[in-house]
Amino acid sequence: MRTDLAGTTVVVTGASGGIGAQAARKLSRRGATVCLLARREDELDEVVGDIRSAGGTAIAYAVDLSDPAATDDVVGRLLVDHPRIDTLVNNAARSIRRPITESLDRMHDYERTMAINYFGAVRLTLGLVPRFVEQGRGHVVISSSMSTQLPIPLFSAYLASKAALESFTRSLSAELGGEGVSTTVVHFPMVRTEMSGRTEIYQAMPMLSADKAADWLVKAVIDRPARVTSLQGAAGELGMALLPGPVTSGMRPLFRGMDRLLARRSGHQDKPR
Ligand SMILES: NC(=O)c1ccc[n+]([C@@H]2O[C@H](COP(=O)([O-])OP(=O)(O)OC[C@H]3O[C@@H](n4cnc5c(N)ncnc54)[C@H](OP(=O)(O)O)[C@@H]3O)[C@@H](O)[C@H]2O)c1
Repeated sequence: MRTDLAGTTVVVTGASGGIGAQAARKLSRRGATVCLLARREDELDEVVGDIRSAGGTAIAYAVDLSDPAATDDVVGRLLVDHPRIDTLVNNAARSIRRPITESLDRMHDYERTMAINYFGAVRLTLGLVPRFVEQGRGHVVISSSMSTQLPIPLFSAYLASKAALESFTRSLSAELGGEGVSTTVVHFPMVRTEMSGRTEIYQAMPMLSADKAADWLVKAVIDRPARVTSLQGAAGELGMALLPGPVTSGMRPLFRGMDRLLARRSGHQDKPR
């Protein structure tokens, strides 16, 4: 067993299921003490139980990160419980798949994605930054999407919140890199979890498993690169830097065609867009 994270403490949000739960299990196997944050207490306790029975150290913090007072409270508890916090993995999120034309009277979609995906993560990060600076070392990882690297339809509320968090995270590196604070933006492709499972036609889409995706977070925590991405995501970014117009107009028919194909293969209806 590799113990390259022995003696470190890692805070993982969204650790009650999906990628976050798998990452917490894997980080503990590398020797880290893992603090697991999410709302569902029973699910958190199950992951903590698995980690402890495998000989690891894990603590559950049940919290709604879209609630500012609850987030401030959990920051206080983390700081008291752990004399050193090495890494924060901002992974908790909600996704919404809805066209902009069906969102005209749904400002709350934009507000609720920002509440957890952006403000929750920023509030938690701001709470831990003084500790990182005091330690002269701290690392912040964010779970973002390949879809911020390319113009993707139907996820405007979700992707805007992810892009905002990416920008905040880069500012953190730019301002506090000299004081030992580093960051990693992880651009996941589609991953088979509860989140992606809510879109029925995606049952027919090839996806990364949550287990494999968790390896991306482990790499981010251990190697601390500025970015973890797929080749397609990197190619998309390059295409957008060089030829934003053609790439943007090429994506529209590509995605319509892909959704039609997935609907046929999955046997589920998708609304015509
Ligand atoms: N799945 C994909 O295809 C995909 C693709 C690209 C990027 N990502 C990103 O990867 C990350 C993990 O996604 P996933 O697929 O593992 O999603 P998931 O299975 O839906 O898990 C989301 C996690 O976030 C937690 N969470 C949601 N709202 C919360 C709140 N208000 N307060 C605290 N915790 C909250 C959930 O726990 P509770 O419900 O217990 O609170 C859960 O643990 C997300 O940031 C997502 O945007 C996923």
